[in-house]
Amino acid sequence: MAIPRDFINELIARIDIVDLIDRKVPLKKAGKNHSACCPFHSEKSPSFTVSRDKQFYHCFGCGAHGNAIDFVMEYDRLEFVDAIEELAGQLGIAVPREQGTGKRPDQGLSRDLYQLMEEANLFYQSQLRQHQDKQKVIDYLEFRGLSNDVVEQFGIGFAPDGWDGLLGRYRQNQAAQDKLLTAGMLIANDNGKRYDRFRDRLMFPIRDRRGRVVGFGGRVLGDGTPKYLNSPETPIFHKGNELYGLYELKQKHRDPQHVLIVEGYMDVVALAQFEVDYAVASLGTATTAEQFQLLVRSAKQVICCYDGDRAGREAAWRALETALPLLKPGDQVKFMFLPQGEDPDTMVRKIGKDAFEALMQDAMLLPAFLFDTLSNNHGADKGALAKQAIGLIEKVQDTVLQNLLLENLAHKLGMNSSEDLKKKLGFAVKKAQPLNAKGLQGRGTPLRLAIALLVQHPHLGFGLEEQAALKRLKMPGVDLLGHLLEITREQSLNSAQLLELHREHEQKSTLIKLAQWDHQVADENVLLEFKQTLIWLYNQSIEQLYQELSLKQTLTKVEKLQLTKLIAIIKGKAT
Ligand code: CTP
Ligand code: MN
Repeated sequence: MAIPRDFINELIARIDIVDLIDRKVPLKKAGKNHSACCPFHSEKSPSFTVSRDKQFYHCFGCGAHGNAIDFVMEYDRLEFVDAIEELAGQLGIAVPREQGTGKRPDQGLSRDLYQLMEEANLFYQSQLRQHQDKQKVIDYLEFRGLSNDVVEQFGIGFAPDGWDGLLGRYRQNQAAQDKLLTAGMLIANDNGKRYDRFRDRLMFPIRDRRGRVVGFGGRVLGDGTPKYLNSPETPIFHKGNELYGLYELKQKHRDPQHVLIVEGYMDVVALAQFEVDYAVASLGTATTAEQFQLLVRSAKQVICCYDGDRAGREAAWRALETALPLLKPGDQVKFMFLPQGEDPDTMVRKIGKDAFEALMQDAMLLPAFLFDTLSNNHGADKGALAKQAIGLIEKVQDTVLQNLLLENLAHKLGMNSSEDLKKKLGFAVKKAQPLNAKGLQGRGTPLRLAIALLVQHPHLGFGLEEQAALKRLKMPGVDLLGHLLEITREQSLNSAQLLELHREHEQKSTLIKLAQWDHQVADENVLLEFKQTLIWLYNQSIEQLYQELSLKQTLTKVEKLQLTKLIAIIKGKAT
């Protein structure tokens, strides 16, 4: 699974972040840096800067920051691994994988699977135009009210009746047949005979975030059963990780304000046709944590849309339980229930875009839905209500939301404030982590400056001899400096590469802050200042050792010698 560090390192070295960003967000040279209006928030004057030296971007307005990988992750909304693939693709190189970790499917195989899925997709689409039975499909599409545009936009196709519509195209190619079987497009019966999985169905291709077809949903043309047939889990298709329509949505809106999550393929497509083009569907199952994660990353507001019946309420509740631990400050989740017997497809056709969006506006906020449901569940039994509520509230990681829910609960229980409630329940609310918890001391300490300079100019550390004094020094943050010196001594890195090595590091946020900290040291003085901070630290360590030794009652021979030396050093410095 793992991508070798060296490769990532090299990738960052070979990509120039200024060129990379300039292609998407035209940059203007401004002093040493390049700048533009920030692509991650709306603004009138540019506060987004890109540094060629650091290979790093930073927005003074919204705080967005990072290296080339972060930019691609943020801008193109890709996962880490996909962002690496994307950058490697731009350089025309393949991403190597380290052997032995995880059960990453064979890269060569999955490449072939993607290829075959795309071929199948094109085949189904062509059948919609060419097949002798195409008229009945066109009639069905018309019956469902789907426009040609939306059929094309979602790549909807037709799998003809018969056992070998798709298979027949690979008669001479056993290897391709084997792969189609792996991809779930063929089924083998007990005798080993193979045949098409999808027959006489309307085909909805399911694309991953990079637009690759990874599976299909096939609907009967009428009332047969099963109504939908879906691709099974395959090396390239994991139902719980994908959302139908997310790729299409991202094509329309790079930075959507909101995402609507619905239940069905038809819902997504019909909504898009009516210009509610920001809906996605979980694939016929309850929304998984992975899917939710994707959604809240895609947009600040997620609206979950369900039928108004009991099953719809239950599905919404499951979604709420899944979402609670994942929510971050600023995320907004709403729940919307349609009238009995309607789904988003029928609803939007009935009332149109504006009225549908008005319903969305009226959707219930997560706390309202939570307490509404709890009240329904428990009626007047406040003890039971509190118990279930606390169980849920404990799962919330976002302290703002957690406190809000506690306030709500206190109010429900007739208490004055959540403080009373917390006391009564002995409920330990997570404290917001103070910034730099175990990081550095004050803002402008020499240690902080040393780390900042090193993060911003990693070459300062290159080839530097080992700083033994730092190992002895007891000072919060000094370990981090020692750690950075060790890394930068060995290899010549730029800031972006250094930070990339710390993507998973516990001090990552401290490093990022320091990477952007305006240390006010002029370029020509950087080396000198850095050396001076090291000297200051060395002196500190001498002082500390001296203090320690002089406080001791009895000293060993070695310690006595040390102390004499220290005194000499300190005296020497004084003169
Ligand atoms: N589903 C499924 N298998 C079924 C029925 C449903 O996988 N046998 C999944 C499909 O992803 C479907 C979703 O559940 O899109 C919602 O089901 P349903 O509401 O029944 O279908 P619709 O999408 O509304 O389709 P239609 O309007 O054509 O009935
Ligand atoms: Mn429907």
